[in-house]
Amino acid sequence: MTILSQTTMSVMPPAALDEKPMPKSQDHWDQVYSTKSDTEVSWHQPHPERSIGLIRSATPNLETSIIDVGGGTSHLVDELLSVGYFDLTVLDVSQAALDRSKARLGRLGKNVSWIAADITMWTPPRSWDVWHDRAVFHFFTETKDQDAYISVLRIGTKHGSVAIIATFALDGPERCSGLPVQRYSSTTLAARIGSEFELVADGLETHRTPWGSTQNFAYVVLKRR
Ligand SMILES: C[S@@+](CC[C@H](N)C(=O)[O-])C[C@H]1O[C@@H](n2cnc3c(N)ncnc32)[C@H](O)[C@@H]1O
Repeated sequence: MTILSQTTMSVMPPAALDEKPMPKSQDHWDQVYSTKSDTEVSWHQPHPERSIGLIRSATPNLETSIIDVGGGTSHLVDELLSVGYFDLTVLDVSQAALDRSKARLGRLGKNVSWIAADITMWTPPRSWDVWHDRAVFHFFTETKDQDAYISVLRIGTKHGSVAIIATFALDGPERCSGLPVQRYSSTTLAARIGSEFELVADGLETHRTPWGSTQNFAYVVLKRR
């Protein structure tokens, strides 16, 4: 969060007072993505194989609409494009992350919808067939933020939509990127998302960080009733 000194506040133009407060996590994540390369962040995957496999088995139809929530600089969007999916949206609180992904994809990135927003404060303008979130929901350690995320998830999905959500497992790390996380089993994660979604598949993955340590993730595939 930006802390303004008295001096700064006294010279702030009146229009700025009307601006919405900056999402509290934006500064943190912009700083991360402006200073660290892909191989300097623990969550980086050169090939997000588990996510691709779960998306393809949930929805082989290439017309499926997919949103990657908190996509960061993930290569999931590259791989979805190369498989042939074309209705793709990547949302992240960090504009710096989205800019890096757009630059990496070049011309191909022009076919993707890029949204810079805090998921807990966002109103989806449409719904998607697949909602994908790897290592984002677990940052919401307060009930009110979890509830806000789940409300947005409900607006952004419809009957039959699939939500693929991965968090640190119960034996995963207690922090990520210096921030505390809420860890889940597939059962507790599905229960937290709520009975509007049916648990159709789950699994564990041991992720190897770019420097060779391991982190256990719990994955759930949930179908909107
Ligand atoms: C651990 S990284 C995971 C990135 C990506 N999902 C992956 O698997 O490579 C967490 C991501 O969530 C994003 N994020 C954190 N809080 C967010 C929020 N409130 N709204 C949207 N994105 C958020 C961060 O900017 C970051 O890109």
